[in-house]
Parts: sequence; C-alpha cells; structure tokens
Amino acid sequence: MSEMPSLVADQMATALASVDVAAVRRTYWAQNEFVYLERWLPPPLVAEMVAEVERVRPAINRNFIPRHKKGGSVSFYTLLEQAPTIVALYRSPAWIAFLSALTGQTLQACPPGDPHSCALYFYTEPGDHIGFHFDTSYYKGARYTVLIGLVERSSSRLVCQLYKNVPGRAVEERALTTYPGTFIFFNGDKLWHAITPLGEHEERVSLTLEYVTDPAMNPLKRFVSNMKDAIAYFGFRRVFVDSRKATRATQ
Ligand SMILES: [Fe+2]
Repeated sequence: MSEMPSLVADQMATALASVDVAAVRRTYWAQNEFVYLERWLPPPLVAEMVAEVERVRPAINRNFIPRHKKGGSVSFYTLLEQAPTIVALYRSPAWIAFLSALTGQTLQACPPGDPHSCALYFYTEPGDHIGFHFDTSYYKGARYTVLIGLVERSSSRLVCQLYKNVPGRAVEERALTTYPGTFIFFNGDKLWHAITPLGEHEERVSLTLEYVTDPAMNPLKRFVSNMKDAIAYFGFRRVFVDSRKATRATQ
C-alpha cells in the first residue's frame, strides 16, 4: 500500500510536466470553467486504476430513476478500503495544486462524510445513462468535478452544453468520448451535461473526483444531499451507516 502514493506522485509529476498549465487555465476560463485533455493521464497510472475498477466490481450498487438515470456506482467508502491508487490520486497535493491553479481558488477534498467525493460510475447494461444535470454544489462554496475515463468500450458520449444560462451567449455543445486517461474538469454549477445511453455489449466506467472551496454545509442541505445519494446512487446503508464509519476513521 505504501507504494501507491509514490506511484501517484511520480505519475503526476510526469503528467504535469507534459502540459502548459497557463494555456489549460486560459482554455478553462474561455469555456466558462470547463476543460478537456484527451488521454492525458499516464498509462501506468491508468492501468493501476483500471485494476482497482476490477477489484471493486462486486461492490457496485445499481440504481434506476425513470427518465433520469440508470447505472451503477461504487462510493468513496469502498474505494477507501480497496482502491489505494484512486484515493491517493484524489488526495495528491500536486494534483490539488494543479486544479487550484486552473480555478484560481484554493480547492480541498470534500469532507469524509460525502460518498461522492471520489466515486466510480459503471455503465454496464444497455440503456445505462444519466440525463442532463448540473453537479450542483450543496456546500457553502463552489464544487468542482474531475471526470476521468477509465474503461471505454461504448458508443456513449459525455454531452456537454457550455455557456448554459449565460446571458447573451449561445450554448455550445460538445459530445466527448471519455477514453482511458482522459481528464475533464469543470465547475459543477456551470456545466450542463449528460451521458447518452449505453448500447448492447458495451461498457463504460468513469471516475469522478469532487473538490470544494468551503467544506461547510448547512444541516438541511446535508440531509437533502444524503437522501439524494441514498436513492439515486449508493444505497441507504452506504450513505447513512458507512459515512459515519468513514468520518470516525479519519478523525
Ligand atoms: Fe454530473
């Protein structure tokens, strides 16, 4: 396990050496806080994370909300136990510093009670998808999403509508294939996005990492957020029992 942080640190150094951070930051802002780097993360790091995807498969929780979403997910609590590379990436200081440089904000990992903070999303059955939504922040500050492609054997697309609700700007749509190692980063309150339905005999797995500027949340919003997670994503036991365990474990 102690190997994992150094693998992540080495691979992050390689990845960061390969990009012009100022140019990525300009694109991020020009696109209303959205940027995309295709197949950017180094293959050894991606391979290690894909191995962890296979390890956590038995823990997938399947969900179905008519007309909105269908798919599977594995929460942060399972990743904490079984996916050391993914968790090390989530917490990597160099990685968080890079994301903070893009946004111009000091970002931090979500508090330990949030099952979305770092989670895997599995599209494994025909028709698995999620409808258009924002990754709305329930925190007092802004929330940012990193989406990383890990398994891509599908015709599904991440469809992004840029400049949604920006007065005087026409919406621009992008349909992206989330190839392994692809990095997508956006402000959750600004990017309107969806995943189109999976076809027959296809599979798609992505990792999302969430960061916040202010981890505080008022208790009513916390309750609404937990109910949504229990129903739409991870199941009641994961959200209400394991989150307490995770909070205790990190205190
Ligand atoms: Fe989303």
